[in-house]
Amino acid sequence: MKKEFLWWRDGIIYQIYPRSFADSNNDGIGDLGGIISKLDYLQELGIDAIWLSPINPSPDVDFGYDVSDYNDIDPKFGAMKDFEKLIREAKKRGIHIILDLVLNHTSDQHPWFLESKSSIDSPKHDWYIWRDPKPNGDPPNNWQAVFGGPAWEFDPELGKYYYHMFYKEQPDVNWRNPQVRAAMLDVFRFWLKKGVDGFRLDVFNLYFKDEALRDNPPKVGIRAFDQQEHIYDVSQPEMYPLLKEIREIMDGYKETYVVGETFLADAEHTATYVGNDKLHAAFYFEFANNRWHPTRFLNSSLKWDAALSEDAWPNNFLGNHDMARPATRYCFGEDDRRARVAAAMLLMVKGTPYIYYGDEIGMRDIPIRKKSDVLDPIGKRFWPIFKGRDGCRSPMQWDDSPNAGFSLADPWLPVHRNYQQRNVAQQQSDPDSLLNFVKKLISIRRAEPALQHGDFIPLVEEPRFILAFKRVLEYDSVIVILNFSNRNHDFQLPEGAYQSLMDGSSATGTINLKPYQVQLFKLMS
Ligand code: GLC
Ligand code: CA
Repeated sequence: MKKEFLWWRDGIIYQIYPRSFADSNNDGIGDLGGIISKLDYLQELGIDAIWLSPINPSPDVDFGYDVSDYNDIDPKFGAMKDFEKLIREAKKRGIHIILDLVLNHTSDQHPWFLESKSSIDSPKHDWYIWRDPKPNGDPPNNWQAVFGGPAWEFDPELGKYYYHMFYKEQPDVNWRNPQVRAAMLDVFRFWLKKGVDGFRLDVFNLYFKDEALRDNPPKVGIRAFDQQEHIYDVSQPEMYPLLKEIREIMDGYKETYVVGETFLADAEHTATYVGNDKLHAAFYFEFANNRWHPTRFLNSSLKWDAALSEDAWPNNFLGNHDMARPATRYCFGEDDRRARVAAAMLLMVKGTPYIYYGDEIGMRDIPIRKKSDVLDPIGKRFWPIFKGRDGCRSPMQWDDSPNAGFSLADPWLPVHRNYQQRNVAQQQSDPDSLLNFVKKLISIRRAEPALQHGDFIPLVEEPRFILAFKRVLEYDSVIVILNFSNRNHDFQLPEGAYQSLMDGSSATGTINLKPYQVQLFKLMS
């Protein structure tokens, strides 16, 4: 692998949920103009790329994850010229652009689907997965939708069922049809030509389903979806040649990147999708789902790294648009000390860090109190067992003005009530804020190649309180020490005289760490 700085391996990727980042035309929904207006903020934070959750036209049943046109921008976010401006302005600041491609399914309003369901003789009929009912009228097999109910929806006009893994408004396309495959590969080319640097592939390991549509075998679980072994509707072998073809397209452009969201897969299986002729990276969820314990994080990190082959590089995240924010899960009330440790861990363990917008200021999820407030359909469906994903999608908190400076209009989701204390402007002016702490860690990471692509060597196995490891690159190394506990703890440094990258202090032998303290040391030369 290349030794010099490689943006998607050594840099930091920042995920933006465009509806909630910044609203430039005051309609209550974030947009591209809003993102452009915050590029200076992102540059100053020190990130190298932004991943935008989908910005294609969408009826918003699943807020952008139901696309009705792959080659355009949804007017609520702006026009193509705004996107072109975003690319230009981002490039000027050294920020790469990663688009979210949702190619497993389209919206049921996509012209392809409308045509597909117009008649069985339509040239696009086979672009989706249609099957006759069983003789008794039942769906073709036992497959379930992860968003609830059977995965088959009956269309009375055609007298056939179509398949959808998510909502019924998100029909899965038929990737086995060569025209579909060609049309989808053209989507990559279209955006690459515009200057996009990379893609995040939504649930890519669902593209292919078992050709014979065999029933999944039963297993014990709570929801109907979990009561099956997903061997026929997930992770089919046809994905590997397709990834190779995608990679060939990507490699026709300089330093591009594809990261895949893997659905229902362990570390070993996820790793099979990553490498020189496959994806550059894939998301593995265990690290983010850990409870607060240093051994848990250490083991997930080691497991993920060990599963990957030589030509692959790990990545890590603690939050995204589908899960509760890390500060919500790990912190008590408004105390940010665990958020600091979490941020330091994310930025210093081996792997490309992904920061979800707002986590750099420790945003907390908005509470979802009533079913009637829920916008995310899975929250409505599974209420009150699961309240949906609105909590982590609330507007970015920029300052203490009304609506947190996100918009002059009522935002599409409420702003967190803590915004007058917790916002970017306030944290910029407080030298001890989480934001300034994160910035400092990022600048240290940028200055130390060992923290970017160095090896990862744990200093304590099965730690109870202190996560300590070394990042080593040739003759250079950095020691990272994170106190996960609310008490003081001693830590024995390896032999040598060290200097702290955090506070400049020198240290040898045993050091004492304050509650939730983060230390980074280099050997003195
Ligand atoms: C992915 C997305 C999620 C979306 C689903 C269906 O898991 O991250 O937000 O609802 O795919 O597209
Ligand atoms: Ca707007």
